[in-house]
Amino acid sequence: MMKHYLQFSDLTADEYAWIFERARIIKARFKQYEKYQPLTDRTLALIFEKASTRTRVSFEAGMYQLGGSVVHLTTGDSQLGRSEPIEDSARVISRMTDIVMIRTFEQTKIEVFAAHSRVPVINGLTNEYHPCQILADIFTFIEHRGPITGKKVAWVGDGNNMANTWLQAADILDFTVHLSTPRGYEVDQRLAGVKNNACYQTFKDPSEACVGVDLVTTDVWTSMGYEAENEARRAAFASWRVSNDMMARAQPNALFMHCLPAHRGEEVDADVIDGPQSVVWDEAENRLHVQKALMEYLLLGRVTD
Ligand code: CP
Ligand code: NVA
Repeated sequence: MMKHYLQFSDLTADEYAWIFERARIIKARFKQYEKYQPLTDRTLALIFEKASTRTRVSFEAGMYQLGGSVVHLTTGDSQLGRSEPIEDSARVISRMTDIVMIRTFEQTKIEVFAAHSRVPVINGLTNEYHPCQILADIFTFIEHRGPITGKKVAWVGDGNNMANTWLQAADILDFTVHLSTPRGYEVDQRLAGVKNNACYQTFKDPSEACVGVDLVTTDVWTSMGYEAENEARRAAFASWRVSNDMMARAQPNALFMHCLPAHRGEEVDADVIDGPQSVVWDEAENRLHVQKALMEYLLLGRVTD
């Protein structure tokens, strides 16, 4: 049966275990310069309605490395920007390509696209979710510290697409998120799509959220599409900057992650993101490896070669 990857909850813990193991194997082969091209003659359509560096490079390079090719579309250079219905775009694009990645605004857009697509659709970020990033983040945690089950993750900042997706991941993979967001920027549990609210605790004080955790993570104060709120957000988020004082409250071997792009001196101090506990460059690189494993899984299922 065809599967889409529109939010983190679209896959089970068992499927994640499979994908993380495949990502490990695919990464190891890549590091050995071993060719692995199971997607020869397959085409990935990349549709961007928002800016991107990591998502574009990782999907594009990843698909070529797997033997396939890529078509890149943006709102400005396609009929998407001239109001062609999403349903029609999905019907057409999915007759010509084998898999589609979309970065857009509302989650409903990607859901409508998927409902009219003949091929798997991957969420490359919406206002609500960023599942490919959390896939990379958890793979990075596992590489550095082993299984994430039972661990604690502090989220310091906006109740945004990243925060929602961390909560979904905690629910599915059985870890706990310590959530600290300024008043007015809380996570909406219903929107986050969390079934079991025991997977997270909320903290007014971001430093308290960091006590005893295994990972501290944050994101920009203003996500793409919310730029008009920039000034209000700067004021509201002033105390939600990850500092060395906050890191000192966490476990001594706690990691720091940020999906990037980062603003040093806003959501994180430079000596944290550039410091010894930060794994942000591994985290960014791992987008490539986990998404190759994800595309392999969505197109070929559980391959074992
Ligand atoms: N983290 C992330 O998705 O980065 P880009 O916006 O550069 O794709
Ligand atoms: N929350 C950020 C993530 C960017 C990768 C945004 O949506 O802009």
